[in-house]
Amino acid sequence: MDRRLFMKMFAGLLTISSLPKSLYAKSPIGNQAEFLQALKEKPWLLGYLGTDQLEIRADLRIVSGRVPSELQGYFFRNGPALHNIGPDRFKHWFDAPGMVQKFTFADGVIRFHGRLVGTRRNRTEAQRGNILFSAFGTHGHDLSSGGSADGQNAANINIVRHADDLLALWEGGSAYLINAETLETKGPKVWSPETAGLPFGAHPRFDQDGSMWNIGYSVNPAALILYHISAGGHLLKTHILPQMVTPMIHDFMITESKIVIVAPPYVSSKPKGESFIDKFEWQGAQPTRTLVIDKNNLTKVTDIELDPFWVFHFGNAYDISPTEIGFDFVVYDNPDFMTREAFSVMDGSWDGQDHVKSRYAQAILNLTTKTAVIDHFDDFGPVEFIRTDDRENLTQHKQALMLSRSTHSGVYGFSRLNLYDRQSESNRFFDVSTSEILEEHIMVPKQGHDNQSWIIGTALDWKKGLTNLSVYDGAHLSDGPIVKAELDLALPLGLHGNYVAR
Ligand SMILES: [Fe+2]
Repeated sequence: MDRRLFMKMFAGLLTISSLPKSLYAKSPIGNQAEFLQALKEKPWLLGYLGTDQLEIRADLRIVSGRVPSELQGYFFRNGPALHNIGPDRFKHWFDAPGMVQKFTFADGVIRFHGRLVGTRRNRTEAQRGNILFSAFGTHGHDLSSGGSADGQNAANINIVRHADDLLALWEGGSAYLINAETLETKGPKVWSPETAGLPFGAHPRFDQDGSMWNIGYSVNPAALILYHISAGGHLLKTHILPQMVTPMIHDFMITESKIVIVAPPYVSSKPKGESFIDKFEWQGAQPTRTLVIDKNNLTKVTDIELDPFWVFHFGNAYDISPTEIGFDFVVYDNPDFMTREAFSVMDGSWDGQDHVKSRYAQAILNLTTKTAVIDHFDDFGPVEFIRTDDRENLTQHKQALMLSRSTHSGVYGFSRLNLYDRQSESNRFFDVSTSEILEEHIMVPKQGHDNQSWIIGTALDWKKGLTNLSVYDGAHLSDGPIVKAELDLALPLGLHGNYVAR
């Protein structure tokens, strides 16, 4: 090139960053090659390989037992799925475009249908064959912010049915409407013009009148948003609670009279962070704040400071008296699972060891003394994915279902299913094989039995290279599944799901 022309071109540039991005030699995002190498040595990483399919249909092969005749309906699940896009690989387990999954139970047969959630982010990246937008834990050169929270929306955490809507949920932006028949994405759910595009959490809570409560948290401006949506799907009220700094809040609780928001000291104190998680910092010397809000007066807030802990998920909460609330949850000393392990599964560097222990815990919160008594149940070992029976919602629930593991063989993941009776303090459990990694299991009410449930869930069998689905009779959990069925493919390990009866 002519030197004078070259100098002239350079002189015209204010900064090198204003060169067209297409002129850069783009290096791939993430560590696809490292992961694939690690997968050869640690085949249990199969659950984090991801899929390149945008839509999957398959029948499940029943390998033992029979489907109970009363199970006629749909088990919906959601989770990050497209971990690799072209040469790129997301850096964090929670990043990738979500795939909603539907297991249809019909007359003893189980069918599978999975489909990419068609948010703008997910569609654009799948079409273009590259990671293009910053994500929960991924950032890099020339990734776009997407222009708004929904510009990064992967809709990959949960899927719930409310009113006539099937909603794929993220936590940083809108819920997305899914056609339950075709799994086609209809678009973002707009509750009102004022709340369009605002963060809407992944774990809404359902009230006894069928209405739905939810929270969202906004980093800029720092605020918590409360939503109350009627049983018919109409927005009843919203309320904004301004914050000094925004805590990351994944789940919350309601009781008959209160909303309970537990805010660990993991806060957005670093606004210049590029990925979402980079904006947050664990301030372990600070308390975990618990905000107890009067459902009938959302401005009436009791702020309780507890010794610091981290939490992803709660079981169920209930009023014991006007000034006492009981609940159960999975407690961690800090968010290291999310800030370390959930990265290292994606580049394959994880050694399979837990660096932070999770424990089942039960708590009683006293609003008068502003204290809590928290009992830790160490005997279960590490636990996650706590679920309770919807029929016991907001009452002093008897049962809690959760995953744990009895031994640690250097394979990460849960291999024991527990149904804990909180009244008798007895535990029924079942251990799956050492080559299976359990995903969240849920309780489905058994017809004609007030206290009994079917337990339904999926697992990755990394030795066989496939995903299976099992149904257990909760009353006889230790006997193992009453039906077990296999897909001919390994689905990426996902997050949450729910059953919808037909
Ligand atoms: Fe969750």
